[in-house]
Amino acid sequence: MKTVHTLEDVRWITDDWRRAGETVAVVPTMGALHAGHMSLVEAARSWADRVIVWIFVNPKQFDNPDDLEKYPRHMDRDATMLARAGVDLLYAPRLEEVYPAGFSTRVSVAGVSEGLCGAGRPGHFDGVATVVTKIFTQTRPDRAYFGQKDFQQLQVVSRLVRDLDLGVEIIGCPTVREADGLALSSRNERLTEDERRKAPALYRALCRAAEALREGAHVAETLAEARLEIVSAGFASVEYLELRAENGLAPLDRLSEPARLLAAAHIGAVRLIDNVPVTP
Ligand code: PAF
Repeated sequence: MKTVHTLEDVRWITDDWRRAGETVAVVPTMGALHAGHMSLVEAARSWADRVIVWIFVNPKQFDNPDDLEKYPRHMDRDATMLARAGVDLLYAPRLEEVYPAGFSTRVSVAGVSEGLCGAGRPGHFDGVATVVTKIFTQTRPDRAYFGQKDFQQLQVVSRLVRDLDLGVEIIGCPTVREADGLALSSRNERLTEDERRKAPALYRALCRAAEALREGAHVAETLAEARLEIVSAGFASVEYLELRAENGLAPLDRLSEPARLLAAAHIGAVRLIDNVPVTP
């Protein structure tokens, strides 16, 4: 595996691949890799001739400087995992490769970025859409792999690619979970032992609510019960818990089409998100 830090290096390497007619997949990440990221790498490797992993803690998508500062960083460990997994290229750009002096463009996707995480984290999805545009223009992949855990992000990126004809096929991969159901996240490292024990309650509550909705339960009542269950299990607060259309994320007050239950909740100093599908 080669590791590079500049756009120039990425360009000459990927130009060679393209001249040889090889397909290229990118897995965008902010590092602190776990089995969820590695499942994206595995999916990318099974399809593409060449796999690039992007690692960059993108300051533009953090609405809270403390969260940015505390975001875990393990570059050496990440590089070892990726080399073992057969990745061809690790691109960990320096800040100025992504945002050169004078950078003044912002990519903003309306609609799907509104509400849910977009309401609680102002500017977050503009930061994501801007950096993802840079990821695609810098690495020029055929395909890009994202996790369904960040379901709203996946919708924002899909919309972005369609709207701007970016010519990248977006693949959403299933959420990877611990044995007790907790969705893997780089933020899980920041949970205390006690919080870690309580954290799977978020997924359990979502599953129970999804089951009730499938059986015809009233939406608002079911969501209120699930919120209560999460807080009773030891979460400090539920930021949102909503039923949205799977396709386009319109709010639903009835299970009239394939949907997702999505939630963000705070436990100690950590904000966790999760979602589950709900089919009528
Ligand atoms: O999902 C993430 O880790 C980030 O939002 C992404 C897509 C790498 C953009 O910085």
